[in-house]
Amino acid sequence: MDRNPIFSLRGVEYTYPGASSPALRGLDLEISEGEWVALVGANGSGKSTMAKICNALLIPTQGHCFVMGCDTRDEALVPAIRRSVALVFQNPDDQIVASIVEEDVAFGPENLGLPSPEIRRRVDRSLELAGLTALRRSGSFSLSGGQKQRLALAGALALEPAALLLDESASMLDPEGRLSFLSCLGSLKRSGMTIVQITHRMEEAIQSDRVVVIDSGRAVWDGSPGDFFDGEYEKWSFEEPPGIALYRELLARGLLPGGTLPDADSMLDALCL
Ligand SMILES: Nc1ncnc2c1ncn2[C@@H]1O[C@H](COP(=O)(O)OP(=O)(O)O)[C@@H](O)[C@H]1O
Ligand SMILES: [Mg+2]
Repeated sequence: MDRNPIFSLRGVEYTYPGASSPALRGLDLEISEGEWVALVGANGSGKSTMAKICNALLIPTQGHCFVMGCDTRDEALVPAIRRSVALVFQNPDDQIVASIVEEDVAFGPENLGLPSPEIRRRVDRSLELAGLTALRRSGSFSLSGGQKQRLALAGALALEPAALLLDESASMLDPEGRLSFLSCLGSLKRSGMTIVQITHRMEEAIQSDRVVVIDSGRAVWDGSPGDFFDGEYEKWSFEEPPGIALYRELLARGLLPGGTLPDADSMLDALCL
């Protein structure tokens, strides 16, 4: 069954005002409802620019970006597009607006003019999903970097968007925090959420449905995490995920049963236990 497209980027080019060269150079990409896509690429490859294009914060200088069929060039549709797609930035300090955690999460639904019981329901659910229920009365600015990132995620979830765009949103989490962030994305995915996860940490791409490599403002590779970790990532000079590095080390020391590196799918299965 074909799923509805959430994002359709057709030949998207974008040049920042005053910049001498484009940040996006003919980006073609289609992301469907319910997909969890990991978007990877070197610094400066255009990932954040693409996220802003997908949220209609930037409008293509050429080409089109459709969000659930709505062209972001149509100003009348921009408010609906912003309601459908929540963008979580890398730096949570840019997104915290209220001094108490639960008030910060309530800010978005309040702005939508929702009735109080609905706001409370959304705040409770989003805090729960982000693992922040115990900290709901804490001061937003006294949270750790990782907790602030989860607060930014909770704020986005409270908008109950159709899609989440996460721009390096787990970068400040410690390894344990990152695992719980990824398991939270797993439950969101199971609930039908479309997730575009921008990351430079290869291990975060392991659990996605699909990996897209962005290079110099274009989508240059698109496939399954299994194929990606079967050697594709080496071509783009990405760092090796620690789990896969461990397998290679065991193999080199003759400690791997059978003496061969398992195929990527078995490694991924083992790593995601
Ligand atoms: N506000 C801006 N003004 C001018 N150039 C920018 C701006 N933001 C990003 N760029 C440039 O656009 C290109 C893509 O940047 P970006 O989308 O932030 O990449 P990434 O998120 O992959 O690191 C880079 O060359 C960057 O220097
Ligand atoms: Mg970026």
